[in-house]
Amino acid sequence: MTEIVRVSADAGPDDKSLMAAGIILRRGGLVAFPTETVYGLGANGLDRAAVERIYIAKGRPADNPMILHVASCDDMLEVASDLPEAAFRLAARFWPGPLTLVLKRRPCVPEIVSAGLPTVAVRVPAHTVALSLIRAAGVPIAAPSANISGRPSPTTAAHVRADLDGRVETIIDAGPTAVGLESTVLDLTAPVPTLLRPGGITVEQLRIALAESGLDLCGGNPERPLAPGMKYRHYAPRAPLTVVTGDPAAVRTAIATCLAKAAAEGRRLAVLVHADLVADLCRLGLVLDLGPRGRPDIAAQRLFSLLRACDGEGVDEIMAEAEAEEGVGLAVMNRLLKAAGGRILHAGEGTRCAAD
Ligand code: TXA
Ligand code: MG
Repeated sequence: MTEIVRVSADAGPDDKSLMAAGIILRRGGLVAFPTETVYGLGANGLDRAAVERIYIAKGRPADNPMILHVASCDDMLEVASDLPEAAFRLAARFWPGPLTLVLKRRPCVPEIVSAGLPTVAVRVPAHTVALSLIRAAGVPIAAPSANISGRPSPTTAAHVRADLDGRVETIIDAGPTAVGLESTVLDLTAPVPTLLRPGGITVEQLRIALAESGLDLCGGNPERPLAPGMKYRHYAPRAPLTVVTGDPAAVRTAIATCLAKAAAEGRRLAVLVHADLVADLCRLGLVLDLGPRGRPDIAAQRLFSLLRACDGEGVDEIMAEAEAEEGVGLAVMNRLLKAAGGRILHAGEGTRCAAD
């Protein structure tokens, strides 16, 4: 039912597999494809019925709009109108790349893409295969992340297959994605540009670019992400997850205590910590490496894959060390806290374990 086609990461629009996938999209079918952030579940963004199939395949709530993927800044003008000057500045600076702009929707874009909103979210992905597929299809591609709603986003074709086998015509496999978590979503229709979801382009980068247009950035508060999709529990592994905050020594002590306690009680606890704690803790249980401390870009690349690995191991509980909320770390923490449903353990304030 679902065909998986392997293509090279630099395949052009004349690649036979991509041409075939382009035809599937034009005929109303679903194609999962790699972007630089995560894999997307694509449909012809101008075809109402095709987009409806995405909602069904993912089990996505009908009030959660999706992003239109286009191949160039010019293509953005086909789907959005009344663009502020900042849209051109940000597009020139960050596209192709992990920034999504929310703009006024043109009537040619079916309402279902935007879940009835008068706006449309647009981005140009920085992945040759994604750009080639958009060109091969000849239409904007509507695509949310290619996971079942609520699950961690897919960073490999195998993740897509685990969630969507039999629900999508083709999965294009071009290897693991580079960024590992989703694009930054910025609303340019609000009076002040508003961050709806932190992501691959950082708040710091946005502030600098917006200042050049004489603009501020609103909504950098990680506790209150505003994209319609962010109100749902999201990115969640099957086992309950707790985020552990505190300095490394306190985190180490808290997690060591919890691992020992879980082992004594016969519960399977997996922990995700930064590299400097791995050697120390790995004797005590299942310890997965988020990468070097201070490298949120590496934690971003690994996070969803590690959460899915915990599912694969069938663990009972997961604890993950917090990331400093700077640069891409803001997006990593946003995803971790969503995945944890807000459960936080403050290490150093007495050692209460997840199951206590
Ligand atoms: O990196 C990404 O953005 C990936 C790849 C595939 O491009 N896509 C992705 O799509 O993460 P999705 O559907 O999982 O997340 C899109 C987010 C949701 O939180 C949604 O609510 C928001 O963007 N969004 C989409 N259209 C919007 C609109 N018109 N207004 C406000 N928020 C919107
Ligand atoms: Mg998603």
